[in-house]
Amino acid sequence: MKKILAFESSCDDTAVAVIDECGRILSNKIYSQVHEYALYGGVVPEIGSRAHIEQILATSKAALGEAKLVLNDIDVIAATLAPGLIGPLLVGANFAKGLALALKIPFIGVHHIRGHVLAGYSEPDFPEAPFIALIASGGHSSLYHCHEDYRISLIGETLDDAAGEAFDKIGRALGFGYPAGKRMDSLARLGNSSRFAFPVAMRKESHFNFSFSGLKTEAIQCIRQQSPYSEQTLRDMCASVEAAIAQALSERAIRAVREKGLRSLVVGGGVAANTGLRELLQKQCAEFGISLFLPQKNLCTDNAVMIARAALIDYKKGNLSSFSTDVRATLPVDEAHVLSQILR
Ligand code: KG4
Ligand code: ZN
Repeated sequence: MKKILAFESSCDDTAVAVIDECGRILSNKIYSQVHEYALYGGVVPEIGSRAHIEQILATSKAALGEAKLVLNDIDVIAATLAPGLIGPLLVGANFAKGLALALKIPFIGVHHIRGHVLAGYSEPDFPEAPFIALIASGGHSSLYHCHEDYRISLIGETLDDAAGEAFDKIGRALGFGYPAGKRMDSLARLGNSSRFAFPVAMRKESHFNFSFSGLKTEAIQCIRQQSPYSEQTLRDMCASVEAAIAQALSERAIRAVREKGLRSLVVGGGVAANTGLRELLQKQCAEFGISLFLPQKNLCTDNAVMIARAALIDYKKGNLSSFSTDVRATLPVDEAHVLSQILR
């Protein structure tokens, strides 16, 4: 049984995972740099690059150890090549290429968003392509059409803040550290989501774009007006913000599935771990007879299993990468094929 060792280092997580050729997870290790940014309220690329260098060897050894494998058992190496922070990407990509060269095995460069879309690939309830994917994270809030051949095209995106960015910025105004989404999620469970009516932008528009900056501004104003607020008001604000973000994401994703004549929706990205969003998607998809794939929460946030599974599709097609394929800070997912061409 072939084994893929994969690396993800595009932002603030040093992640290494091993899967087999059936997509089964043999290990999934993540070193999170989040605590390094408590002082700054966001990722600092230079600190990130250094932390990736310090952690990548230990995280790789831990991933191989958990999989009960040694390097010589690995058949394919994969790594995120784009998009992301250049320094962090370079660390993971060069480490991965170095290993593949030394082991004389194929290397596959992966687009980060392809990873999010295909994080659940090979799991029993993961849909057959074509399907629509909603990816909502700190950097992205976008809708994608995953075609029958697993080519992915963008059909809508945020015009301003990403959904996770809105959670993080509103959370910051509430005095929370970065990232704030998970904490707001816990508080929202105890709050009344109809206490504050935050706006859901562009509901009547026919396109598939999102906008979260109006919601962010209103929420930050509300926080100032309510200050000093009780613990219950804090919970109610978190629940109301979460409800507006979940509604915006869910209703547009469902409209995309219906208008494209498809039947399945796949969700991913850090915000897909949000309890309120998961519940609303389950309810609304059931209403419209849409089959919904929600990855387990640790496959929603950045991880290397998703990179390994996207690479598995390329590997099966015979798409490999040249060692000279470089990292890129930006690359539309529609052009992801430039990272792994047919090189046999
Ligand atoms: O996908 P991800 O790990 O990294 C990016 O590529 O951005 O997503 C991180 C984002 C952060 O904005 C974080 O606040 C948000 O996902 N997030 C959540 C939850 N867990 C993570 N937002 C809402 N509810 C959550 N449970
Ligand atoms: Zn991500």
